Amino acid sequence: MFRTNRIKRLVRSPAVFLMALLFFLPGLNLYATEGVPGMHELDRRVADLMARMTLTEKIGQMAQVNAFGGGIPVAAQEALTAGRIGSILNEVNVNIVNEMQRIAVEESRLGIPLMIGRDVIHGFKTVLPIPLGQAATWNPELVRKGARMSALEAASTGINWTFAPMIDVTRDPRWGRIAESLGEDPYLHSVLGAAMVKGFQGDDLAEHGTIAACAKHFAGYGASESGRDYNTTNIPENELRNVYLPPFHAAVEAGVATIMASFSDLDGIPASGNRFLMRQVLREEWGFEGFVVSDWASIEQLTVHGLTANDKEAAFEALGAGVNMEMASTTYTNHLEELLQEGRISIQQIDEMVEGILRVKFRMGLFENPYTDPSSYPAISNPEHLATARLAALQSLVLLENRNKVLPINKETLGSIAIIGPLADDGYEQMGTWVFDGDAGISQTPLSAIREFVGTDVRVNHVRAMETSRSRSVDGFEKARAAAESSDAVIVFLGEEAILSGEAHSRADIDLPGNQAELLRVLHETGKPLIAVILAGRPLTLENVLDHTDAILYAWHPGTMGGPAITDVLFGVESPAGKLPVTFPKMVGQVPIYYAHKHTGKPATADTFRSIDDIPVRMPQSSSGFVSSHLDAGYSPRYPFGYGLSYTEFSYSDIRLSGNRVALGEPVTVKAVVTNTGDVEADEIVQLYIRDLVGNVTRPVKELKGFQRLRLQPGDSQTVEFVLEPDDLAFYGRDMKLINEPGDFHVWIGGSSEAELRAEFTVTSD
Ligand code: BGC
Repeated sequence: MFRTNRIKRLVRSPAVFLMALLFFLPGLNLYATEGVPGMHELDRRVADLMARMTLTEKIGQMAQVNAFGGGIPVAAQEALTAGRIGSILNEVNVNIVNEMQRIAVEESRLGIPLMIGRDVIHGFKTVLPIPLGQAATWNPELVRKGARMSALEAASTGINWTFAPMIDVTRDPRWGRIAESLGEDPYLHSVLGAAMVKGFQGDDLAEHGTIAACAKHFAGYGASESGRDYNTTNIPENELRNVYLPPFHAAVEAGVATIMASFSDLDGIPASGNRFLMRQVLREEWGFEGFVVSDWASIEQLTVHGLTANDKEAAFEALGAGVNMEMASTTYTNHLEELLQEGRISIQQIDEMVEGILRVKFRMGLFENPYTDPSSYPAISNPEHLATARLAALQSLVLLENRNKVLPINKETLGSIAIIGPLADDGYEQMGTWVFDGDAGISQTPLSAIREFVGTDVRVNHVRAMETSRSRSVDGFEKARAAAESSDAVIVFLGEEAILSGEAHSRADIDLPGNQAELLRVLHETGKPLIAVILAGRPLTLENVLDHTDAILYAWHPGTMGGPAITDVLFGVESPAGKLPVTFPKMVGQVPIYYAHKHTGKPATADTFRSIDDIPVRMPQSSSGFVSSHLDAGYSPRYPFGYGLSYTEFSYSDIRLSGNRVALGEPVTVKAVVTNTGDVEADEIVQLYIRDLVGNVTRPVKELKGFQRLRLQPGDSQTVEFVLEPDDLAFYGRDMKLINEPGDFHVWIGGSSEAELRAEFTVTSD
């Protein structure tokens, strides 16, 4: 619409009209599709455009520039007109975005539109749970829908590219960016990451309301040493291929348009200059056809890492490795031409990078529709979007403890309730990390939702008690104690403020921060039923509060609609059904602790483990009888991957296979019966795990290979069926090739990674 109006205005003048005929008509042919026979239409358009580009224009496409703080300065206008910018990030004012596009499209020589990038990580104005919370839903369709909603809201402001999904497998809750990840498991990550890609991009990137996705951070960032952000990673290639790369491969298979290179150093070669990752794996092995963008100044930082001596060398390495576009820093802009003149790089190398970018721009339909008309989009935060955010928050809730069935609370028998804690009524903090655009004004807090739910029949005694989750002051505690004493039940909203997780917000101590544990102890003394709802960006260690609570509901950072979702679960409108996408340690010293660990040569069991209290004084040092464990923490976590309680109980029985002997390359079907043995209708997330008993490289003790969410009435049973394809049994072996081996397998179906219902089969080579 924007463009049509301008053209209409222009063609009113006959002289301009004539000039337009002479000038624009051949121009309209610029991207004509005839010409080079036998080439795919997209490639033909790219080739046609490339043939017309100067070196400056090519290098321009490789530059991504941060927005200018609310306008378009003259220097930027000139750069856009000269074709020296390919993409802008962080502009969300639609008028400015349209004007930038207009300059790029109508005033630059070749009229190449811009990609407008933004971190739309878990919602735009309407905020979904943090990605780690979304992963606790184990619901790919809901995750897809959430990304679709985010795309629509973001696209209405002119954003056409998000830097999401973040699909860094991580097994370290100290790492602040675990909040942005989908947890510890390659399979769950792969399924949900691909669902996000589909949600952002739709089936056709050119469709209205879709935005390009960016799978990040390639690769291995989640293994940052000691969970300290930006830290070194050392990942053996076999582990990289079996654990960290599969989600990226799945994103590529799902058609992700772009990939972001990681900040981190991988085995001595920072990812942004890593040819193995971006040339060999991404392009040669996976045939990725989109493009790679650096992370923020990560090319420049190759020098800070000590891989290169200066910006020019950094540009040389990153280009060689296959980074198409440079975010924020300007080593390409400043040095590629010189490197070319010196003959150190070839024009073919530059062309290849630019073609990748143009291919995505064509795929996005940007040449046809560069402008944004906000009125063509559904309203921001409309009821449907709020409903999606509410369902995602609801399904993300994980019930960790429920002693004496203190939950759900029966509203009918309740006279009063104390609502306490720094996160009970904070619309901003509940949104979590990475919410540049999130609107705290529309957040519905737990306090407001509970008040609305219980109405005037129940007295609500609210005391914040602590200014923030980090506060050390105990000044508010007596007031909180008094409120608890005068109430029938107590709900305490604790956890972490949004800023305690996310990028560069790692923690070495992952207990509840500040004096929150002490607050719980004080409230527990009242003897009232005590329910802790924890809003946090990571798994926390909860040992020092377990004895002071009757129930713990883990809510992550639940986003805009956290309040009503939590209320529904607390009062039993809906049973909790979320399951942990990541293991919760007892103590931080156990990290990394994850379910898919290797067996080791000395595995610990209940019979063999001896705790610090059991070992005899002056016991002689000996290697026999010792097992892999910590004297003080044992060998198991506080809560395992896949765990989560319900208001009902489910039992698993009758596991059956299509056969106990399966020929190599053939699928095997696994069935089991799930029964709701309790008295509440509820969802259950049924999980399937395998173990490959003997491998050419050692295999994990359990690997998730399937899951289904189903809903059962009390007393009802359902047979679930999974098909294990050969790919599900494959792994990267010693020679780093994906292989299927004959041999024995165990398979479990159950409600967590500690599922016990097991069957066995053998893959035969005949
Ligand atoms: C982060 C990326 C993000 C980029 C742009 C970087 O600091 O690592 O994940 O997309 O900034 O905001």
